[in-house]
Amino acid sequence: MSWGNISWGNIVVAWFAALLGALGCALAQGTPPDMGDGQVAFNNACRTCHTMREGDNRLGPNLYKIVGRKSGSVPGYGYSSAMKNADIVWDKANLERFIANPDEVVRGNAMKPYGGVASPDARAKILAYLEASGAGN
Ligand code: HEC
Repeated sequence: MSWGNISWGNIVVAWFAALLGALGCALAQGTPPDMGDGQVAFNNACRTCHTMREGDNRLGPNLYKIVGRKSGSVPGYGYSSAMKNADIVWDKANLERFIANPDEVVRGNAMKPYGGVASPDARAKILAYLEASGAGN
């Protein structure tokens, strides 16, 4: 049984080099573009009033698992009666319309002041982010 010339020092150096290699690779790839862009778009348009964390209500209710959630259903959040009675299940299609123009989907809602996200591209990114975050990120 011979370890030859291999010293612990060499092993550590090799391990460290491998680690740096992996790290370099991760940095070169960056964050997946959709997720990164989506988060930025969400931060720009929504984060003033919303978080994605369960139970964390700000000016607006938290948006944890919003895709597939019933409207007006976060416990302990004081919704407008318009939102409480809207009786819709949020899916990607009605969320898209809602963030373009909230009043078109739930007339008289209290999501204000909110100008709407005019860019279809930004809306798509936000929706992808809402969906991905609901999956537990
Ligand atoms: C100025 C603050 C503000 C901003 C900015 C804002 N919201 Fe809201 N949002 C609210 C408030 C307040 C409500 C509750 C409305 C009500 O009760 O009528 C709400 C409600 C919602 C609801 C309904 C939630 C539920 O539980 O039924 C969704 C979905 C939503 N917002 C998504 C968004 C998204 C996505 C963005 C960004 C594109 C955004 N909001 C930007 C304040 C805001």
